[in-house]
Amino acid sequence: MEKAGIPAPEPRVERFEKLGFGMFIHWGLYSQLGQGEWIQRIGNIPGPEYAKLKETFTASEFKPKEIARAAKRAGMNYITITTRHHDGFSLYDTRGLSEYDALHTPAKRDLIAEFVDACREEGLLPMFYHTTLDWYQESYVNDFTAYLDYLYRSVEILCTRYGPIGGFWFDGNWDKPEEDWKLDELYGMIRRLQPEAMIVNNTGLEHRGEVGHPEIDSVTYEQGRPKPMDRRGMSKYVTAEMCETINDHWGIGKADFMYKSVPALIESLCACRKVGANYLLNVGPTAEGQILPVQTAMLEMVGDWLRIFGQPIYEGKPSDIEGEGDNFALETSDGKLYLFIYHLKISGHANVTVNGGGAGEKTFTGLQRKVESVRWLDNGEELSFTQDGETGTLRFHATGFPYGVNYVVRVAEATTA
Ligand code: GLC
Repeated sequence: MEKAGIPAPEPRVERFEKLGFGMFIHWGLYSQLGQGEWIQRIGNIPGPEYAKLKETFTASEFKPKEIARAAKRAGMNYITITTRHHDGFSLYDTRGLSEYDALHTPAKRDLIAEFVDACREEGLLPMFYHTTLDWYQESYVNDFTAYLDYLYRSVEILCTRYGPIGGFWFDGNWDKPEEDWKLDELYGMIRRLQPEAMIVNNTGLEHRGEVGHPEIDSVTYEQGRPKPMDRRGMSKYVTAEMCETINDHWGIGKADFMYKSVPALIESLCACRKVGANYLLNVGPTAEGQILPVQTAMLEMVGDWLRIFGQPIYEGKPSDIEGEGDNFALETSDGKLYLFIYHLKISGHANVTVNGGGAGEKTFTGLQRKVESVRWLDNGEELSFTQDGETGTLRFHATGFPYGVNYVVRVAEATTA
């Protein structure tokens, strides 16, 4: 709902917000070591030794169509892939700019070209993560002007050789905060060559939610919880995206058992949508390029949840109507109201379930429209309610999950006059 003093989103930003849920992919030479994408630095591996990983990079299991299908199955609408990460190695054909790319490995393929095609085939929007800092290029240390030219020409390739893309997700400016990165030029080129592309630049763990440059279309919340955006007085409408690892690593960590639970993923998705942010969930494919079955399986379960509750997740916008505790409301532009309810339990037989907790009266405030019905979105069960028109308070009776069911977060649809 449009409010006074808040700029309207540009079409690319509006389109991005509606996508809601995306896949982040961290994959590169480092995946062969299975210890995350920072291993060159953190493991003090000398540059020339690390660069040898190029000789064993085969991409033999990289099947972008399967990846795109898995993303689609999970209810994701876009994929952001590391076209080049901090180690400086590119998954795309740098067309002579550098030999440190996938074309100069045993893979001998432009992996980004294949990725883009696969996304389009599945109706997903391809987006490009691109590092700005670089551990490989000597010019990054010795001759920053020359380095910026290299970076500019790299991005120019991505802008001109892959058709219309969803956007750029830059990362690394925080490494040299004192330098002039000439962002007007870089972003200006993107606007010229890819007018529909989002421009994002990760502000990192320390500066979540900050807008760095006037061209930025979305702030980032790396491994965080997005806050409601206060857009009053902003010169343009900026949206938000939260990215999160599925365990504790972006690039594959072979010995990382710290997987999030499926409920935690569902709750992260809901926490993002509550404030109108997108959720970018990361997977780290193997050395050869395959997403681990455990990760695909987890994504599938989130997809199952979205098959039931997807509509409000994609179409719903943050609302002034407030729930208690974690509970919250979303509204759609055609006036539908969705109430997200947490912490319900199964109302089953006491011998088999931890009985009934969480069910009972739920209160939402700030609702001026007259409510006509409240029902669970999943099974249509009608819920009794009362409404105090004067204070704008809605109270309804949330039943627990029937035995056989636990959706983690359950959504009720309220129809209003
Ligand atoms: C950090 C890390 C990087 C990772 C990114 C994802 O900035 O440096 O490795 O790609 O976060 O958000």
